[in-house]
Amino acid sequence: MRHVMLPERGEWEVIVEAKRGPVIAIDGPAGAGKSTLARELARRVGLAYINTGAMYRVLAERALAEGIDPDDGEKLSILAERISFSLGSRGSDGGELWIDGEPPSPSLSSAEVEAIVSRVARHAAARAVMRRKQRHLGVEGCVMEGRDIGTVVFPDADLKLFLSAEPTVRARRRKRERGKGDHVAEAVAARDALDARTNPLVPAADSHVLDTTALSPEEVLGRALVLAQAAGLGPGAPGRSS
Ligand code: DC
Repeated sequence: MRHVMLPERGEWEVIVEAKRGPVIAIDGPAGAGKSTLARELARRVGLAYINTGAMYRVLAERALAEGIDPDDGEKLSILAERISFSLGSRGSDGGELWIDGEPPSPSLSSAEVEAIVSRVARHAAARAVMRRKQRHLGVEGCVMEGRDIGTVVFPDADLKLFLSAEPTVRARRRKRERGKGDHVAEAVAARDALDARTNPLVPAADSHVLDTTALSPEEVLGRALVLAQAAGLGPGAPGRSS
């Protein structure tokens, strides 16, 4: 066990498990392009893909199903302990987050979950459980996306990317992804405000900030691959398969 100072937060974090493989941390607000990049980057560099947003979303979904108040941090932390997260595989990839032995359900993107997930993700006790589980899942090496990965979960990540994009562009992307609703821009702005109370969207000091406003997913991936290669993690890096 060791303690690391988190300069962005002015706090100490206890790191229980030492990292045994390469980790790429991808942080940023909703609609900045994190999932699209993280999944493809993981495939290209041969690492597991872990979407920590899905972990908070399943906590919110289970809280709804079990009638747990989204403001009851203690009950949420007990519920978080009961959810099993693992790395599963549907093909020959490096694995990705599975929840209670199954791939994440599309219902995690439902309006009901969306409406309360920020509130559920606010509680320090539940976050402590999630951080420990996230670290444990990723210690053998992964591409992990979220809000606090480069700052808190893996402050020792080998490469940290922080994606940003203008709010109107993020809202447009969300609308394309989720399909419906005329109030996506307002919903994204409201969730940004709620999310920022928990994780001030400050990039880790040693992260690479990529503004994706005017970039296609392929261009974002191209830039990330260049940075990964420079960090010794690219497809052509020694010791890694392509
Ligand atoms: O990335 P996403 O939209 O799927 O995230 C869902 C929610 O979980 C969002 O409200 C922010 C929160 N979250 C968090 O607090 N910390 C993370 N590491 C990932 C997500």
